[in-house]
Amino acid sequence: MPKNEKISKSVIRRLPRYYRFLGELLSEGVTRISSGGLAERMNVTASQIRQDLNCFGGFGQQGYGYVVADLRDEIGSILGVNEHNGAVLIGAGNLGRALAVHLDYGKYGCRLVGIFDENEGLAGIKLGDLTVMPMSELDSFCTKNKPTIAILCIPKSAAPEVCPRLAKLGVKAFWNFSHYDIVNLSDIEGVVVENVHLGDSLMALCYGLNNRSE
Ligand code: NAI
Repeated sequence: MPKNEKISKSVIRRLPRYYRFLGELLSEGVTRISSGGLAERMNVTASQIRQDLNCFGGFGQQGYGYVVADLRDEIGSILGVNEHNGAVLIGAGNLGRALAVHLDYGKYGCRLVGIFDENEGLAGIKLGDLTVMPMSELDSFCTKNKPTIAILCIPKSAAPEVCPRLAKLGVKAFWNFSHYDIVNLSDIEGVVVENVHLGDSLMALCYGLNNRSE
């Protein structure tokens, strides 16, 4: 399917979950599933699934359901999981090290190509297949390797200087753990930002805990 601007953001947000569940079904040998079956498995309504999947073409057939592999491939191609977008990780502290080592970037359409930290004492440390580089090498590295994604694992106070620098070096997408609000940075235009706040998710959990029905 061609890139479709009309798919709503809320549908796009749900696609990774479909992709994950369909992958699990495939690994269990399930080749075909009805919207009802998928709904039960995912704990959502069948009509939500039909509505979501109708946004990008009629994959299901009435009375036949969805071909799991085809649907997963289609969703994967919408999400771009077969792309090889180069990513640099900035900040090789506790969080940065965990993200560098524990995420299988290739599964998500991304390739971690460089890790940087301003603490020159960390330069040379091996994290997975990569070696931490000093920030003094960032410009030449980006000019040569042209990463389009930056994973920000730096303190909030460091981000206002680092973000525009990365944008000028061609970075177009920020996976932002820094708690800095990149949205308000007026000189970065045409970039996409995904802000991650694990604490928000924990607060939602605590809300659920405190407001659960007995
Ligand atoms: P950390 O202190 O272990 O690591 C931060 C690293 O960033 C250090 O190695 C430091 O040398 C480096 N750094 C600082 N300024 C830099 C700059 N200008 N350029 C390049 N590197 C720079 O901290 P930790 O625990 O890894 O957390 C990193 C950030 O992520 C913190 O600001 C923390 O608040 C935030 N965080 C966010 C979470 C989220 O859900 N969004 C979850 C956990 C942490």
